[in-house]
Amino acid sequence: MAIFITGGAGYIGSHTCVELLNEGYKIVVADDLSNSSKISLDRVREITGKSFPFYTIDICDEDALSLVFEEHNFDSVIHFAGLKAVGESVSRPLMYYRNNLVSTLTLCRVMQRYHVHKIVYSSSATVYRPDNPMPLQEDAELGCTNPYGWTKFMCEQILRDLASADRNWSVVLLRYFNPIGAHPSGLIGEDPRDTPNNLMPYISQVAAGKREKLYIFGDDYDTPDGTGIRDYIHVVDLAKGHLAAIRYLEDFSGVEAINLGTGRGFSVLEVVKNFEQTTGVKVPYEIAGRRAGDSARCYADPQKAKRLLGWRAEKTLEGMCKDTWRWQSANPDGYGADIDPRRK
Ligand code: NAD
Ligand code: WQD
Repeated sequence: MAIFITGGAGYIGSHTCVELLNEGYKIVVADDLSNSSKISLDRVREITGKSFPFYTIDICDEDALSLVFEEHNFDSVIHFAGLKAVGESVSRPLMYYRNNLVSTLTLCRVMQRYHVHKIVYSSSATVYRPDNPMPLQEDAELGCTNPYGWTKFMCEQILRDLASADRNWSVVLLRYFNPIGAHPSGLIGEDPRDTPNNLMPYISQVAAGKREKLYIFGDDYDTPDGTGIRDYIHVVDLAKGHLAAIRYLEDFSGVEAINLGTGRGFSVLEVVKNFEQTTGVKVPYEIAGRRAGDSARCYADPQKAKRLLGWRAEKTLEGMCKDTWRWQSANPDGYGADIDPRRK
């Protein structure tokens, strides 16, 4: 029996594949490579010394997905596949609603047909209304500020409705905070296709000299240094959270939403300073206006993950900066356009 991983060639998916393989799980990966490279999966094989099947398919394609379920027996599914750029979701809402909802609906239909009822779903802290008190507990008010967020909210609801209609289903909705960092091998990491939307990949590209400076979106928030505060979590800690969720699913039925964060917030300026101190590389910056939709602070209460999954984040911000920089320095162009430069 294996675990089916959708979106497994992506940033969080590839790190989770490593942790699962290292723990002896069998995996099967599917990804349409719309935001990733299959070189990431070659690197997963290199890190772990293990192989696994990979299918280049769109999860919205029910026939293609059914063929994968026909060929393998799955215990459970981890559903990472989805589009995730907040700004792009505002300008191309239909693409986001279609891809993120249809892929989830199609996956659930096929799972149902093949009697696979355990799923870990990649949700996000973005499902919480920005005006909740901090730290965020799982029963905080939900509500989103952009189409991407609503797709996460709606997929959570679809999975809840499915589990209440059929008691066979076991669903863990993992609400990630801000994943950063890379595998300590320096072989896999985040590889944004265009200009990075998120803070840490932007910082590392400035440090590498690929961009002139970082634009800090607002220094007039009601926070100690005026810049926004977020709960940054190392992607390897996050990947281990999925392992804990898979174990939890073994004898659980129903639905649980669980935060995966550290519980500790850092401001943009604290992240920049920490990156500079840890790597010894300067990150020039300029204060720019606030980014639409941003809030002053967002951090998790991670107690439920500790209580139910026995998991907590262990890595420090220094570790996150160090590993990001190792990945960036060793792979200045990410996975490259088509070919792995080390395999030329
Ligand atoms: P990513 O873009 O690196 O990985 C997503 C993968 O899904 C990509 O490899 C992409 O090619 C694939 N994909 C997209 N649509 C597909 C489809 N229809 N069929 C097959 N494959 C498809 O993103 P990530 O950062 O690894 O995020 C993984 C999941 O976690 C996403 O669902 C995302 O919304 C969620 N999430 C990410 C963050 C974050 O900050 N990175 C935070 C919270 C939640
Ligand atoms: C972090 C802080 C910015 C870039 C996003 C999504 C969320 C989730 C995680 C998927 C903020 C500041 C950023 C820059 C900056 N993803 N910043 N200059 O916005 O907390 O969360 O990623 O589910 O849904 O919204 O993360 O990394 O973009 O920003 O000053 O160039 O860095 O204002 O305070 P965010 P982020």
